[in-house]
Amino acid sequence: MLNIVVFASGRGSNAKAIFELCEENPELISICALITNNANAGVIEHAEHFGIPTHVVPVIRRSTRKETRANHEHRITAVLESLNFNYICLAGYMRILTEEFINAYPHPNWPCSSIINIHPALLPSFKGTHGYEDAFDHGVRVAGVTTHFVSAEVDSGPIINQRYFKRYAADTLTDFKTRGLSEEHRCYRQTLMALATDTLIVNHQPFQLFMS
Ligand code: GRF
Repeated sequence: MLNIVVFASGRGSNAKAIFELCEENPELISICALITNNANAGVIEHAEHFGIPTHVVPVIRRSTRKETRANHEHRITAVLESLNFNYICLAGYMRILTEEFINAYPHPNWPCSSIINIHPALLPSFKGTHGYEDAFDHGVRVAGVTTHFVSAEVDSGPIINQRYFKRYAADTLTDFKTRGLSEEHRCYRQTLMALATDTLIVNHQPFQLFMS
């Protein structure tokens, strides 16, 4: 049984896809909470719709000073301590996690964390926050999306699942991103179903995961 905490900062279409998956498969996956750093995030409405408890943990600003990343994470950790979960799913969470935080949530069976992220490109290409824009500007013909376990190096942890989509000559960036976002939802759903049903093929040396 997967017990998930979802972290999200914005619109929340990936979070919504995860919430729907749990509603469809309550015997396999459950969500214990949404954590967001953004009190105005659209994802909060999705969580309300699905009856998922939401914890808003904004970054505290005093005059021009923002609290440190570590301090913010300590307040998130305090929330997590009250929850019973085995995976954290980042779904458009727009903050980079510290190594300390990542190391605090090791996977019980594999040499990686138990934090999953979705990235809007075929890693290891186009790392960073503008995966779609960078791939589009580069003129790729085949683009894609990736779920991976989070490691201290950004967008570099072990890949779990990838899905590709085509870029057509007439595509605008909006067309391209829309097609990609649908693949993100499929990619995340497949990832969680594979974890929930224990059907990933695991290669130990080097550590690599494959969808069956
Ligand atoms: C997605 O493209 C995700 O890959 C990226 O941020 C976007 C979040 O979209 N990290 P949404 O909030 O899930 O709709």
